Amino acid sequence: MAEEMRIVLRNYGKIDPLKIDDYIAQGGYKALEKARSMDRETLIEEVKKSKLRGRGGAGFNCGQKWSFAYQAQADQKYVVCNADEGEPGTYKDRLIMENDPHTLIEGMAICAYAIGATKGYIYCRGEYPHLVGILNTAISQAKEKGFLKDFDIEVRSGAGAYVCGEETALIESIEGKRGEPRFKPPYPPSEGLWGKPTIVNNVETFANIPVIVEKGADWYASIGVPSYPGTKVFTLTGDINNKTFFEVPTNTTIRELIYKYGGGIPGGKKFKAVQIGGTSGAFIPEELLDTPVAFDNMAAIGATLGSGAVFVLDETRDIVDVVTRIAKFFEHESCGKCAPCREGTARMYEIMSKINSGKGTTKDIETISRLGRVMSCSCLCGLGQAAPAPVLTTIQHFKADYHAKLV
Ligand code: NAI
Repeated sequence: MAEEMRIVLRNYGKIDPLKIDDYIAQGGYKALEKARSMDRETLIEEVKKSKLRGRGGAGFNCGQKWSFAYQAQADQKYVVCNADEGEPGTYKDRLIMENDPHTLIEGMAICAYAIGATKGYIYCRGEYPHLVGILNTAISQAKEKGFLKDFDIEVRSGAGAYVCGEETALIESIEGKRGEPRFKPPYPPSEGLWGKPTIVNNVETFANIPVIVEKGADWYASIGVPSYPGTKVFTLTGDINNKTFFEVPTNTTIRELIYKYGGGIPGGKKFKAVQIGGTSGAFIPEELLDTPVAFDNMAAIGATLGSGAVFVLDETRDIVDVVTRIAKFFEHESCGKCAPCREGTARMYEIMSKINSGKGTTKDIETISRLGRVMSCSCLCGLGQAAPAPVLTTIQHFKADYHAKLV
């Protein structure tokens, strides 16, 4: 059984987040010094070799992404931290920023050096106003100590739009525009903020960087599942005894997350389903619980890791009702820029409500399945592409629950 292992949460509870000296006493900012003594190509190669993949959910090779921005020719480059943690049930990035803001700043500064950026932004979720003060204090302390000589970081607060967690909508928002996704390509590493090469990484991704630089790529690559090495932070909610968080190596199985770390289902009830990755995650049935929580293993069962939220439902839960509420969330959060998402999320909620209120037919299940498949491949951004996952996976794994509600 995999044991809990703390890399990004290594300083959790050990330091005062408002005291840079505490972070330094734990070895903080040594990795930045080491990184700056390396040439940029070697540093990027090291990050590539660690096989660190994006912890925002898409799982893109981090060093590879950095190499695109490094190679791009431009008079200005940017490093942006996606801290717009809007996925319901997710608070992993808040944990990192609240308890150890310097690990994020150090990770961003290493990235800035690697790609040649002089300006950075932390785009912080609007519902986390207390973090702005913590982050600004940490930034000014890092400046005073001389760690940010050639790199300036500014904190920007979101305004409550879920879609701004999508990297190009986030970029538009920083530029002062309405938060709507752009067409990709071009991808931000070549044309991002104000048209300049920009690295957008999640908080958890940046928090891994100082440890990778310090301990080396080979050490990191040897942890967990080789195709998605390292650890992942999970936040447990729903019908679970331990409603808390864990950082575990990626060879941990979903079953271990629920029963070993989560302490199982309360009240002696049976497990029904688990949704991993937040509202846009797949619902997973009992027979798939032995899957490791690594990107490709999850993809093989038609699921994503997303933000690492783990939402457990016991046998008494009405799964069709839960999915209807999720459909309402997506209808509300769709930015409306592209028709498949604007119309699709509204129709999806309409049909789910019909089925949930006992007025649906088998034809409605066929229609919503077709609609979901069309949205997954035609929506402009991850919001609309992922919105059908809860509907499609519950129809796949919990068909009887739908049929029980039909006229
Ligand atoms: P993506 O696969 O398009 O891109 C991932 C990253 O790699 C981006 O930064 C992108 O710019 C970069 N990239 C991809 N191809 C590239 C190329 N050819 N050249 C240069 N850079 C390239 O995925 P996206 O749209 O960024 O994210 C979708 C994911 O977000 C989904 O898999 C979902 O799991 C996750 N998600 C996470 C949420 C959260 O709260 N953390 C919420 C909803 C979805």
